Amino acid sequence: MTRRAIVAANWKMNGDLELVKKMTEGLNDLALAENVDVILCPSYPYLMSLSEATEAEHVHLGVQNVSEHQSGAFTGEISTKMLKEMSVEFVIIGHSERRSIYKETSVQVAQKVKAVLAANLTPILCIGESEAERTAQKTELVLSAQLQPVIDEIGIEKFAEVVIAYEPVWAIGTGKTASPEMAQETHLFIRNFLADVNTTVANKVPLLYGGSVNASNCENLFAQADIDGGLIGGASLKVDEFKIICSTAKGS
Ligand code: PGA
Repeated sequence: MTRRAIVAANWKMNGDLELVKKMTEGLNDLALAENVDVILCPSYPYLMSLSEATEAEHVHLGVQNVSEHQSGAFTGEISTKMLKEMSVEFVIIGHSERRSIYKETSVQVAQKVKAVLAANLTPILCIGESEAERTAQKTELVLSAQLQPVIDEIGIEKFAEVVIAYEPVWAIGTGKTASPEMAQETHLFIRNFLADVNTTVANKVPLLYGGSVNASNCENLFAQADIDGGLIGGASLKVDEFKIICSTAKGS
């Protein structure tokens, strides 16, 4: 089974027009391996500038959140239709910061995934356990409880159009990366969880690892059989480092 590799930049509430300029210049002349897609997920105000400045065909536009509603009285929210008009292709859904700070539930996350798919956009569904949950050996339980509502909402066949990002909460922005072996073991659990319902779909879904990925640890992480790329936070704000991470990724 061949799967494309994906390196997605989650800028969070960081970056400015200067970064937009430097990053697009840096990526426009970057040679990537075959079968690699790079996705830039800035804050909404930078979408237009990024889209205009991006020339490389393997660089795609993404965002970090979207409303589960189509339109209406939802002050401060952004709809999938608006994203389509801005040439966005990918939407990060259920990032642990959205789940913990903004209290997004797994049911709401599932509704967002459904809305994103209905608009022909690709969701990057984030799942991951906290440090306490890993210590209590509840990782598999937590990941299953995050995945199941999405399967229930969209059906397993639609999962073939979803990208999953496994991000252990304790590794996000902390400098503590999961070892490649630990990440691979968890990715295999996720793939097997989907395979129990549908093997063909499970083999198609790109599984990204996220949590303190940087230029030095990405090679060993990306070398794992079930790690199909990364969701990169802090290191995606540094052009040279992000370029190294992108050029390390290879499709399988
Ligand atoms: P980090 O963030 O790479 O800074 O750990 C990853 C993420 O939150 O997506």
